[in-house]
Amino acid sequence: MTYPNIFLIGFMGSGKSHWGKIWSEVVGIPFADLDAEIEKAAGMKIEEIFEKQGEKVFRTLEKEQLRKFEKVNNHLVACGGGTPCFHDNMAWMLGNGLVIYLKATPQYILSRVMDEREKRPLLKRLNASEVLYFIEQKLNEREPFYEKAHQVLDVEQLGHHTLSEPLKQYLARNNTRGHHAS
Ligand code: S3P
Repeated sequence: MTYPNIFLIGFMGSGKSHWGKIWSEVVGIPFADLDAEIEKAAGMKIEEIFEKQGEKVFRTLEKEQLRKFEKVNNHLVACGGGTPCFHDNMAWMLGNGLVIYLKATPQYILSRVMDEREKRPLLKRLNASEVLYFIEQKLNEREPFYEKAHQVLDVEQLGHHTLSEPLKQYLARNNTRGHHAS
């Protein structure tokens, strides 16, 4: 069966990679992590790209790696937290696959990112009390992009088969455009 690409979006710590790996196995399609693709292409860790080249360069690399999925179908792609909010990435994803927003509260996100601040360039220099404020502000700024997704899923309600229904609906809607549901 031919599937579209499925793009998982949402804030850092919302479980895009975690659920992406699980759902790609359930559906039987390859998993791709956009951050990992960027690191491979740049030959550098994300932190290093931010440190040495700055966020603007990172966002250009991110856009380029995302566009690679124009030529390959059938992938479940875990995006970075900022992916939908730069360039015309969100419009592009909406036109090139199924976009799922994993929606989490600031408190949920805080509990997931606190121990991993070192790996996250945007949080690295903040102390514990600044992190929650940062998350709240950034989430506010980013939600208008995230909310354009085809489907919004509450991260606290996710399970192994949560993707099945939105995927079935997407395939039914897009049957006439060449994707086949059976
Ligand atoms: C970013 C999130 C990160 C990574 C980069 C920037 C962001 O991805 O792309 O550090 O702008 O929110 P994760 O959401 O996978 O942590």
